Amino acid sequence: ARVEFLDYDVVTERGWSLTDDDLFEKAAESGLDGDAYGEVFVEPRTNLLKAAEDAGHSWPFACRGGACANCAVAVVAGEVKMPSNHILSEEMLDQGVRLSCISLPVTDDLQVVYNIEHLPGLDELRL
Ligand code: FES
Repeated sequence: ARVEFLDYDVVTERGWSLTDDDLFEKAAESGLDGDAYGEVFVEPRTNLLKAAEDAGHSWPFACRGGACANCAVAVVAGEVKMPSNHILSEEMLDQGVRLSCISLPVTDDLQVVYNIEHLPGLDELRL
């Protein structure tokens, strides 16, 4: 699967929102560096965090086991599946929040905002 990614710090710095329809278009046109915006390819049965790391990126994480939410991302387009979820609320799931350390791509194309640990509601979940 092809994953287009964007750093949430860029979203907040520029006054953008996760719900902007043209979020990734704006990112593509902004001349961002390769850590903040780009794409990675995810092999089957590989989680998003691992794929990003294999491509040389440093995305936040702690437990790697779906228990801390440090690795949370917002899936803006496409779909991933998590084998389990014990910490994200229904409301967060509805907003597209997923744990990158246990999320496997379902669709061929994804748009993902990583580094969302300071998104309201997530701060208190981080251990
Ligand atoms: Fe802890 Fe993913 S690193 S939930």
